[in-house]
Amino acid sequence: MAIIAQRCPGVHTTIVDMNAARIAAWNSDLLPIYEPGLEEIVRQVRGRNLTFSTDIAGAIKRADMIFVCVNTPTKTYGLGAGRAADLSYVESVARAIAEHANAPKIIVEKSTIPVRTAESISAILAANTSGIHFEVLSNPEFLAEGTAVNDLQNPDRVLIGGERTPEGEAAVKALADIYACWVPRERIITTSLWSSELSKLVANAFLAQRISSINSISAVCEATGADVDEVAHVIGRDSRIGPKFLKASIGFGGSCFQKDILNLVYLCEHFGLNEVAAYWEHVVRMNDYQKRRFTAQIVKALFNTVADKKIAVLGFAFKKNTNDVRESAAIAVCRSLLAEHACLAVFDPKVAPEDIQRELAGAAEARLTVARNAYEACEGAHAVALLTEWDEFKSLDFARILASMPKPAFIFDGRNILDLPKLRALGFQAFGIGK
Ligand code: UGA
Repeated sequence: MAIIAQRCPGVHTTIVDMNAARIAAWNSDLLPIYEPGLEEIVRQVRGRNLTFSTDIAGAIKRADMIFVCVNTPTKTYGLGAGRAADLSYVESVARAIAEHANAPKIIVEKSTIPVRTAESISAILAANTSGIHFEVLSNPEFLAEGTAVNDLQNPDRVLIGGERTPEGEAAVKALADIYACWVPRERIITTSLWSSELSKLVANAFLAQRISSINSISAVCEATGADVDEVAHVIGRDSRIGPKFLKASIGFGGSCFQKDILNLVYLCEHFGLNEVAAYWEHVVRMNDYQKRRFTAQIVKALFNTVADKKIAVLGFAFKKNTNDVRESAAIAVCRSLLAEHACLAVFDPKVAPEDIQRELAGAAEARLTVARNAYEACEGAHAVALLTEWDEFKSLDFARILASMPKPAFIFDGRNILDLPKLRALGFQAFGIGK
């Protein structure tokens, strides 16, 4: 909405949430989300044509177009638990719109939702209103965290799905006209509603599949002595494969990949497509294996025991340039190390200490400390595990770190960003992924 407000001065955007504390944070100097470049834009447009408010009823009444941006977490109970998306927030928004709307509206699904959710939204609206016409569009978001502002300003494509009726096509055009304020028309793709909803899940499944594929090869590299970065470089030079998203790592994290693939798996099972479901489920299983493999490597290298040894954990966010820890591979790695009775000192440049503590709650917290900087975390540690690829970790003074560690000193680079030969020359036992 901040980008729409910035690029379309004639459009007024209002963001409403029932969580008053969150709205207050967006109206304050300290925004609740860290995203490079966002703060400047919010400052520029807030109070101009971007408003944050808790007046949900009023905003619904005044809006011509309503974006539904609530989260759709994986269900934790009942039918489809662990796989299907929990649509209770989407449903409650649809009911709120039905209750307060007094004129026709265009409803835009922005949340990532299972295929055919638009149908449910339409059904709830139709059953609870009389005579008001609602047109439901699907407009999935493709931005990645950490690069959100640039991704929104220069998107590879914008996708809009709508009904193939004159009213549907008019609604698609109304939304396309907003994006056309800054996105070249040829990048605005329009499809049917169902193609649009499915494309979002498939895009994430394909991206995650690339990471699981290269991570599976990282295990082969470690067994054979090949170097996974070299292999990735070679295959990425084939223009049919391309170089992006081939970085071997401790495994993908974030709120989207695992959730969306499991959603696709659930959809396939629902339609009795069991082989297809198993195929995609393996992308997630490979990812879990990668996280387990990394922890096992640490334990094995440290003479098969990490009990009461201090391990420094550098990075906790699921990737750099974000303070988001949802499904971060660091959570699984730290939990397994704590289960092995290691003592962890965690440092992340942007993640709040309480978020680290919350994610590791119930896992021997007495053995967990959150350090104020990387040097404090590494002081006296038997091993350093680098779990997030923050740029600042590349330029640490490793000689100083080594001097503060018992010998042999180990370093495990879960992101392949460090110069391992240089670290070895300094005196570290250095390990990477697929190296
Ligand atoms: C992902 C997609 O990239 C976006 O296109 C999509 O819009 C978004 O999900 C969403 O559905 O909302 P995001 O989860 O923010 O975006 O971040 P990514 O950059 O995709 O990274 C996901 C995870 O994969 C991170 O843990 C990252 O470190 C890891 N990764 C990424 C690798 O391990 N290797 C790579 O080569 C690339």
